[in-house]
Amino acid sequence: MEEILSVQGINVYYGAIHAIKDVSLTVNEGEIVTLIGANGAGKSTTLQTISGLLRSKTGDILFCGQSIAHVPSHKIVERGIAQVPEGRRIFLQMTVQENLEMGAFTRSGGVEKDLERVYALFPRLLERKKQIAGTLSGGEQQMLAMGRALMSHPKLMMLDEPSMGLAPILVEQVFTIIRQLHEEGTTILLVEQNAQMALSVADRAYVMETGKITLQGTGAELAQSDQVKKAYLGG
Ligand SMILES: Nc1ncnc2c1ncn2[C@@H]1O[C@H](COP(=O)(O)OP(=O)(O)O)[C@@H](O)[C@H]1O
Ligand SMILES: [Mg+2]
Repeated sequence: MEEILSVQGINVYYGAIHAIKDVSLTVNEGEIVTLIGANGAGKSTTLQTISGLLRSKTGDILFCGQSIAHVPSHKIVERGIAQVPEGRRIFLQMTVQENLEMGAFTRSGGVEKDLERVYALFPRLLERKKQIAGTLSGGEQQMLAMGRALMSHPKLMMLDEPSMGLAPILVEQVFTIIRQLHEEGTTILLVEQNAQMALSVADRAYVMETGKITLQGTGAELAQSDQVKKAYLGG
C-alpha cells in the first residue's frame, strides 16, 4: 500500500499554548484512518496544519512523497487535499449547485460529470439543487460540504467531525456515505468524537489526548481496547 500522507513529528502552538506535541501519523492510499479524541484534544488543529492553515514549528508533512509543510494552503488544495471543516462552512447565500461548483474551482471542465456523481451519492442535494444553502437542514449542509469537497477530486479527503450536531439517523446516513466513498477508493482521514462510529468504518485509528497520540492500531483493535472502551465507548 502506498503512503499518501506522512505527518512526521509536528508541534503546533497557539501563542504560548502547545496544542500539538510531536504528532506523527500516516495514511495509505485507499484507507480510512480515523483520529479520535475528546473535545480539545487537538484533532482540528492537526487537520488545519495538514491543510496549511496552521504551521508546525518542527518536523515535516509529506503528501505523495513531497513536503507540503511550507506550501500555501490553496496550493495544497490543488495538490489534492480537500478538507471538510468542522461546522461545514458552506456558502450560505448560494444555492446548493453553486456551492458544488465552487468545489471545482481548482480546475476547468468536466464539472457536469462530477455534479452527476455527487448528486448520485446525495439524491437529497439533487432535489434541492436550486435551494439556498442556508435554508438546508444540518444533515443536508453536511452532505453539501462533503459533496463540495468531492468536486475537487481529492486524493485525500479530510473530514472534521461530520457527525457533529446531527440526529442519529443522519449520523447513520453520513457514515453510509463514508463507507461508499471508501468502496469507490477515496482515501479518507476522519476526525471524530463519535469513536464508536468512527472505529466501525476505519481501517486504522489514532487516539489523541491533550495534543499527543496515545494509542494506535486497527479500527477493530482499538474498538476492543479497554482503554478506549473506558474513555470513549461508555464502558
Ligand atoms: N484559535 C485558537 N487559539 C488558542 N487556542 C486554541 C485555538 N484553537 C484551538 N485552541 C486550543 O488548542 C487545543 C486543541 O484544540 P482543537 O484542535 O480545536 O481540539 P479538537 O478539535 O480535538 O476539539 C485546545 O486546548 C484548544 O482550546
Ligand atoms: Mg475539533
